[in-house]
Amino acid sequence: MDKENRKIKISPIRNGTVIDHIRKGQALKVVKILGIMKQDTDSVVSIAMNVDSSSGKKDIVKVEGRELLREELDKISLISPEVTVNIIDDYVVKAKHRVKLPGTIKGIVRCRNTTCITNQKEPVEPEFLVIHEKPVSIKCIYCERETKGEEISENLR
Ligand code: CTP
Ligand code: ZN
Repeated sequence: MDKENRKIKISPIRNGTVIDHIRKGQALKVVKILGIMKQDTDSVVSIAMNVDSSSGKKDIVKVEGRELLREELDKISLISPEVTVNIIDDYVVKAKHRVKLPGTIKGIVRCRNTTCITNQKEPVEPEFLVIHEKPVSIKCIYCERETKGEEISENLR
């Protein structure tokens, strides 16, 4: 095999989305986020973990045949803020953007405080303010409990 072929770990895709520069070890969480949406379960998804990149190791997730929803992008930004999202159209990278951490997080993370109003029978959606970006830290607008780092991915709804 020549040098170029040895570099290819997963195939290019024709149409869809490549989530690149995922923090090493986080690919399965990204897949879980995409699965949670229970949408397009027919999409072909490929995963590469511990791939060499210019800045160390990274993970990559490729989703064929669809673009991602805002809510999915927000969740991904919470667990791996440095990802780039590439929209692939007929094998060509048509658009490339970074995920951006939103200022508020609504409905997608549970509050860790069991007595918080969002964890009672009330119809109150959890909502957080992003109070720190690196590492990510969020604060419940109701009970002010902070959730950060790993705790965020453990509490994704
Ligand atoms: N990719 C793919 N299928 C295609 C085109 C690109 O799976 N038909 C993947 C590439 O393997 C890469 C990502 O999409 O993981 C972005 O492609 P590209 O912009 O060509 O790569 P880089 O220039 O290395 O991207 P960056 O500068 O963001 O690291
Ligand atoms: Zn709370």
